[in-house]
Amino acid sequence: MASFEDVAHRLRRASHVVALTGAGVSAASGIPTFRGPDGLWKRVRAETLATPEAFANDPKLVWEWYDWRRGMVQQAQPNQAHDVLGRWTRERAGFTLVTQNVDGLHERAGADRLVRLHGSIWHVRCSKPCDAGRADWLDATVPQPRLPPMCPHCGGFVRPAVVWFGEPLDPEVLSRASRAAAAAEVFMVIGTSSVVYPAAGLVHHARRHGAFTVELNTEATAISIDVDASFIGPAADSLSRLDAAVRS
Ligand code: OAD
Repeated sequence: MASFEDVAHRLRRASHVVALTGAGVSAASGIPTFRGPDGLWKRVRAETLATPEAFANDPKLVWEWYDWRRGMVQQAQPNQAHDVLGRWTRERAGFTLVTQNVDGLHERAGADRLVRLHGSIWHVRCSKPCDAGRADWLDATVPQPRLPPMCPHCGGFVRPAVVWFGEPLDPEVLSRASRAAAAAEVFMVIGTSSVVYPAAGLVHHARRHGAFTVELNTEATAISIDVDASFIGPAADSLSRLDAAVRS
């Protein structure tokens, strides 16, 4: 396994770097992850709420869950991990930040050119979809005055513009992420359990194209044995240390 200094050295020299983030990056902001002991999915079964079928059966219940999550995220602040990654997007032309997170904390930390694989809880679209409501729009009202909210164009239900289980990712967004992964000299996987595909496949894609791969996580994951360097610890700490080492 490569050392911390080795990773910092590679980051300093690389012109193309990608970081793929997951829920662990927002953990220090107080947002529960999906699969940990206190994970969101432990208290609520994913297939109960984050599916098109669940929404068709009970749109109010699904919206109550998203409204609760939106309220929690609204009270939270980006942490040092979001800050370092956001600054890298602004200061390093060849740095691409790809996230599975839908919470908007990367955006609030000033992330530029963010690739959002799973959408955003702050965006909505018509669930039918009607012609006028096909594109996403921003609706950051918390709590929503009426659940489920109605489409202003057709009066149908509005849904969160996130990717649910069983739904495909936006092909253009996935293609952007895949191209960045293929071009990466260093590919970092941060705060994700790496079990949800296609996001989890990006590190393997990057590796096949010659990237040096690094994982930052509080515990070993499905990909730990495949990466070139793995650092166990909170993402905020590891990224702050790496940032300091890269700048020194
Ligand atoms: P998970 O909950 O599956 O994994 C979170 C990971 O973060 C775990 O590996 C933890 O060990 C790690 N972790 C926790 N705290 C950390 C910290 N402070 N620093 C670093 N790592 C930490 O969340 P994701 O991998 O993001 O999809 O889940 C992937 C997708 O599954 C989500 O985007 C969501 C969910 O279903 C959709 O909603 C489509």
